[in-house]
Amino acid sequence: MADLLVLGIETTCDETSAAVVARSPSGASDIRSNVIRSQVEIHSPYGGVVPEIAARAHVEILDHVIAEAMRQANADYSELSGIAAAAGPGLIGGVIVGLTTAKAIALAAKKPLVAVNHLEAHALTARLTDGVAFPYLLLLVSGGHTQLLAVEDVGRYTRLGTTLDDAVGEAFDKVAKMLSLPYPGGPQVEAQAKLGYAGRFAFPRPMLGRREPDFSLSGLKTAVRLEADRLAPLSDDDVADLCASFQAAVVDVIADRVRAGARAFRDRLGRGPTALVAAGGVAANAMIRETLVKVAAELNTRFALPTPALCTDNGAMIAWAGAERLSRGMRDRLDISPRARWPLDPHAAAAAHARA
Ligand code: KG4
Ligand code: ZN
Repeated sequence: MADLLVLGIETTCDETSAAVVARSPSGASDIRSNVIRSQVEIHSPYGGVVPEIAARAHVEILDHVIAEAMRQANADYSELSGIAAAAGPGLIGGVIVGLTTAKAIALAAKKPLVAVNHLEAHALTARLTDGVAFPYLLLLVSGGHTQLLAVEDVGRYTRLGTTLDDAVGEAFDKVAKMLSLPYPGGPQVEAQAKLGYAGRFAFPRPMLGRREPDFSLSGLKTAVRLEADRLAPLSDDDVADLCASFQAAVVDVIADRVRAGARAFRDRLGRGPTALVAAGGVAANAMIRETLVKVAAELNTRFALPTPALCTDNGAMIAWAGAERLSRGMRDRLDISPRARWPLDPHAAAAAHARA
């Protein structure tokens, strides 16, 4: 079988991205291009992503981003093996823009369409960057998602745990907002934390020691809010110490929850993971990364973390997930619908519904 060459399109949130990625039959990868246009500046006056504005911005620049990705890859549409687009989950306006564009290209170029789950793309990125073998333990931590998953194969994901309330990135963003730091909050909180003293506030570590590898962050967020209200008006030192103490609590929670996830992995699969893999924007946080390195060593497993540009939303991960699916003969019909919600593990989602 020849190499697969796939165009990938990502428009589920506030990044417009297109990439061309090759996959050899043995699973080797080559990122030929990965063009990412962030909308951060467009949304920052509003303190968060405004869905209608995001969709309009995707419409305006997606064609150019795709043309640039094809140009940088020196690729012609006739050479492509398929067109992949993130078909969800995400902000539906943007998802429609990306998926519809992919369908049009697939139709015009007579190439297969692959509708990729955005979370699956995050989950498979470690195979693109590090060639990690199945099955592995994935910590997915982004602005919208916080999950521990057993990644068993392409299309086979078991959710071991999830957040009961806020996502980790969301908690970073909300703490930033309450401390009047600019959006997006994660990197700002991290920068402030470097300047602060983590021992000043003893914030709660929700779920610590629980057997089920679930997360809960709203209590921690509220504790930060109460302390900030009590201290107001905040000095620069207060802000830095609040960020440092908050981040230290998050780090402890993540370490403990990943250990619980590894136990759940072993219970379920009867073996340990080939690697601990982190994905999603929050994995760009240096202290969280360092902690995961230590936890992986404790667990006697390898740690794989894509570079920050491949941890946050990007077209290369969509193209790669498309190539992985195509390599297994998976493709989609042109009438497939975009999905605002699309759990990776439908069984876990159904069970959560039954419990609620
Ligand atoms: O994966 P991503 O780019 O977008 C999705 O949510 O899908 O993740 C963005 C999230 C935001 O909540 C952002 O604040 C957080 O990742 N983030 C960070 C850092 N960089 C980004 N959180 C903590 N520390 C960081 N350095
Ligand atoms: Zn994402």
